[in-house]
Amino acid sequence: MLRIEGLTKRFGDKNAVDNVTLSIPKGEMVGVIGRSGAGKSTLLRMLNRLADATSGSIVCEERNVTTLKGASLRAWRRDTAMIFQQFNLVGRLDVLTNVLLGRLNHRSAALTLVKSFSQDDKIRAIAALERLDMGHLLAQRAETLSGGQQQRVAIARALVQEPKVILADEPIASLDPRNTQVVMDALFRINREDGITVICNLHHLDIASKYCDRLIGMAAGKVVFDGPPLALTTEIAAELYGIEAKDAGAEALDALDAIAASEAQRAKQNVA
Ligand SMILES: Nc1ncnc2c1ncn2[C@@H]1O[C@H](COP(=O)(O)OP(=O)(O)OP(=O)(O)O)[C@@H](O)[C@H]1O
Ligand SMILES: [Mg+2]
Repeated sequence: MLRIEGLTKRFGDKNAVDNVTLSIPKGEMVGVIGRSGAGKSTLLRMLNRLADATSGSIVCEERNVTTLKGASLRAWRRDTAMIFQQFNLVGRLDVLTNVLLGRLNHRSAALTLVKSFSQDDKIRAIAALERLDMGHLLAQRAETLSGGQQQRVAIARALVQEPKVILADEPIASLDPRNTQVVMDALFRINREDGITVICNLHHLDIASKYCDRLIGMAAGKVVFDGPPLALTTEIAAELYGIEAKDAGAEALDALDAIAASEAQRAKQNVA
């Protein structure tokens, strides 16, 4: 369970994240939605401590994340794996080595210096790649892969970190629709099979609604919606996306209609 209380991040005279209070139970798949500049990335970065909060607290299982230092901060970062829009792989290294980099913070400083990975590390890395259907490409240089393949390698790297939480910042923003589905399916499977909490920033409401148990809608740093996708109304969708994204709003409402229809269908089948 992650408890976020009064979390604020100020840049100059502007609150990028403004007094956010949330509880996220273990194993939930959460989508953070909202227009550009709403504060989604800043929130995620504070959760991983890539950015420090101006005020407020983050507590996870008795750990006060906002004040961690040294070894305990490193342990927290291991527990919260980040996935980025631009994949952040080392292009000239092969796929397997990129995944092994996720094991670095499980090893002693001395072993890290000699850059030798144990057999156990390698077995884990290969298993993670196979799970993402990428085992056959383990010797290929990362920079030669397609975007969807690179993101799957980044997810494998996150997995070998053995995290409790995966924080994904727009993981599909650079992908085509087919790869979007492959990557979101992978995150969903990891969430359901391993019980890893997934918190995912997403621009597109239709994708967020399809995959997430819960949506957190942000506008100007504040949480303006928190609930299951079906509870999102037209008014809130409009508030979340505003005039910036008339199309995204229309698309989102179509998606909500589709979800409502499939829920109705399912309910009918359950009755029958
Ligand atoms: N390092 C920084 N210095 C100054 N302002 C910043 C910094 N990082 C973020 N901001 C500002 O904080 C606000 C929230 O930014 P953030 O990147 O969290 O938004 P976002 O919801 O992730 O947007 P996007 O959908 O475009 O990724 C924006 O107004 C942004 O300009
Ligand atoms: Mg962002």
